[in-house]
Amino acid sequence: MVTGHHRPTRLLIDTQSIIENVANEVARLPKGRELFAVVKADGYGHGAVETAYSAKKGGASGFCVALLDEGLELREAGLTEPILILGTVDPMYIDLLLKYDLSVTAATKKWLVEAAAQLNKLNAGVSLKIHIKSDTGMGRIGFTSLEETLEAVEIVRENPLMEWEGIFTHFSTADEADVSYFKEQETKFRELIEKLPEQPRYIHSENSAAALWHPESPGNMIRFGIAMYGLNPSGGKLEDTYFLKPALSLETSLIQVKEVEAGTGIGYGKTYTAAENEWIGTIPIGYADGWLRHMQGFSVLVNGKKCEIVGRVCMDQCMLLLKEWVPEGTKVTLVGENSGETVTLQMVAEHLSTIHYEVACTFSQRIPREYK
Ligand SMILES: Cc1ncc(COP(=O)(O)O)c(C=O)c1O
Repeated sequence: MVTGHHRPTRLLIDTQSIIENVANEVARLPKGRELFAVVKADGYGHGAVETAYSAKKGGASGFCVALLDEGLELREAGLTEPILILGTVDPMYIDLLLKYDLSVTAATKKWLVEAAAQLNKLNAGVSLKIHIKSDTGMGRIGFTSLEETLEAVEIVRENPLMEWEGIFTHFSTADEADVSYFKEQETKFRELIEKLPEQPRYIHSENSAAALWHPESPGNMIRFGIAMYGLNPSGGKLEDTYFLKPALSLETSLIQVKEVEAGTGIGYGKTYTAAENEWIGTIPIGYADGWLRHMQGFSVLVNGKKCEIVGRVCMDQCMLLLKEWVPEGTKVTLVGENSGETVTLQMVAEHLSTIHYEVACTFSQRIPREYK
């Protein structure tokens, strides 16, 4: 393939950080509890396959994705560990789930009925691995009442073409200081587990936030996402309980440096005008890369100095107000460390009034990922 790596803009992924973040968490887990690495959305923008292999080195024993295609990508890349699809999959694709040994989430009775019909039709000779999703208060997918959930368990247990592999829930406030709603969800899930006729292979409830701040939550597996990438799930509201190492940096370099005269307008709409003679540097990254128009006014690093993005961010480029002349080709760090100064994804997220999860997922595929 000739496309892909012919620009100075790149996301640098430090796989060692991913390995260490996973290994640190695995070391903290109570005996018998496993870690599944959540690599949906192309590994939160970091690259699903590379993240999965790094997580495996750190001690992950399985993976979670959101979509069937994401599970297929991991299998095609040669990963043989258990893979759970956290979203629902149309029963018409059950042949692929069976062929690629992907475990799937059951969230409604209707889905279970349709899945049973499809399994009968396929008559494949292998059973479909199912995790039942209990909605204890997230209000997203899953069985809501205890009775409904236990009925779903029975439907799966009674069907020889289905294998009841797991049961799980998802917390909505595990990253908050107020634990009252978290406790309500946890209690509901504990009550459900006590009523189960038997224990499936996997019981799981913890995301990164619960793993960090509620490690006593029920289950024998955790679904570890954002913290694996070295990001604090609460965005800094709650302290990391151990040191997380961010894996992602974003770099580019100056493609043009020019001195503009006082009064010169910069960018579309002339939203910035040079107050005096100023050094303006252009970098080849724009909103088509996921470096959004709202990044105007944010500061990035040139030789360890913070330089403001002035004028509107264009589709492919944006402009910096440099502190002084620097040569074209000088490195610019948009996220990460540069000569002792650091810009974090959290700082980008705050500038955009969002969360670092969203920022990481928004970097487009046009930016090559490089792994070290
Ligand atoms: C069901 C489920 N489990 C686990 C995770 C991982 O969460 P986190 O990245 O906060 O660890 C997610 C992510 O959104 C999820 O949807």
